[in-house]
Amino acid sequence: MRSEEKLLVRALNGETLSRPPFWMMRQAGRYLPEYRATRQDAGSFLDLCYNPELATKVTLQPIERFGMDAAILFADILLIPDGMGQTLDYREGEGPILEPVRSVADLSALSLDGLHTRVAPVYETVARLAAELPKEVTLIGFAGAPWTVATYMVEGRGSRDHAIVKQWAYGDPDGFGQLIDLLVTATVEYLDKQVEAGAEVVQLFDTWAGALSETAFQRWCIDPVRRIAGALRQKHPGLPIIGFPRGVGAGYRTFARQAGVNGVSLDWTVPLDWARDELQGEVTVQGNLDPRLLVVGGPAMESEARRILETLGQGPFIFNLGHGIVPETPPENVGRLAEILRG
Ligand code: CP3
Repeated sequence: MRSEEKLLVRALNGETLSRPPFWMMRQAGRYLPEYRATRQDAGSFLDLCYNPELATKVTLQPIERFGMDAAILFADILLIPDGMGQTLDYREGEGPILEPVRSVADLSALSLDGLHTRVAPVYETVARLAAELPKEVTLIGFAGAPWTVATYMVEGRGSRDHAIVKQWAYGDPDGFGQLIDLLVTATVEYLDKQVEAGAEVVQLFDTWAGALSETAFQRWCIDPVRRIAGALRQKHPGLPIIGFPRGVGAGYRTFARQAGVNGVSLDWTVPLDWARDELQGEVTVQGNLDPRLLVVGGPAMESEARRILETLGQGPFIFNLGHGIVPETPPENVGRLAEILRG
């Protein structure tokens, strides 16, 4: 089937569908016993990301079990810093740990030269998926947006207050801008190669966009995302792009108007009526069930899923969660939700 005929691409091209497509962020992951088994076989999480055979396998696991309309490449947003030479380690229970980059001088340790060699297995995974996926399923490639990737690169780990990266971004915007520029270039090249290998849609995850003040949100989230989208469309006209500026509240409206994306992924705090009235005329919306409702399941999950479908399903819409599936999610709740969404 051609990409333009697939449900996810049709929705991103502005079509209102009687049965909206669905997929779930982090649909491949620790809540699935088959994922835990494959991850065990791979050794570490990074070994899994860089093993095309096993990364293909875990990408397909949720599709086989639940029949989502889209598969998202199994990888991580921190492969770009890893590929540019920043030391990265994932520790059990701690998440990612990086050797921090905190000044313009530190940037000289990073280079785009080795990036594509290091991440070549990811492109190979995309090519395998393009060949193996059921014909009606859309393949989504992805990257982190520059601001979110920079938060991990500068803090050296996940952070609550982002004090160190904000000190740099607010105190020395020109210097910090050099890191963002480097990430814009790396991200364009990385996503271009994913599309060349067979990705049909790309999503940019800006998980920490909601940490920024209005001016900084414009400069460090919207502007870099617009530059990336523009450069990708030069090479791939018509490429559908989804942005996820998590937690930005009314900033979603500015993002929808200015970031140059087809789709905007909503976190679970965004009011549905507001999204319908203020965003859906501008872009396709994606979202936004609270992943905790997927842990709870039952009538609480079902009634909220139906409310989302009813309110946003009147316009261009992709059903998703407001953020990723959490590890304690019972797989049978995901199955029940998929049943409702398939109608
Ligand atoms: O199914 C999918 O959605 C595809 C795979 C995917 C992963 N990470 C796999 C992963 C995607 C799209 C991501 C994106 C990602 N990675 C983001 C943006 C989206 C979000 O969730 O906010 C961020 C911020 C990261 C960075 C990252 N990777 C963190 C903070 C962690 C540790 C926290 C955690 O959940 O363990 C990771 C590890 C990670 N990435 C895992 C998976 C399946 C868990 C690793 C494991 O198996 O132990």
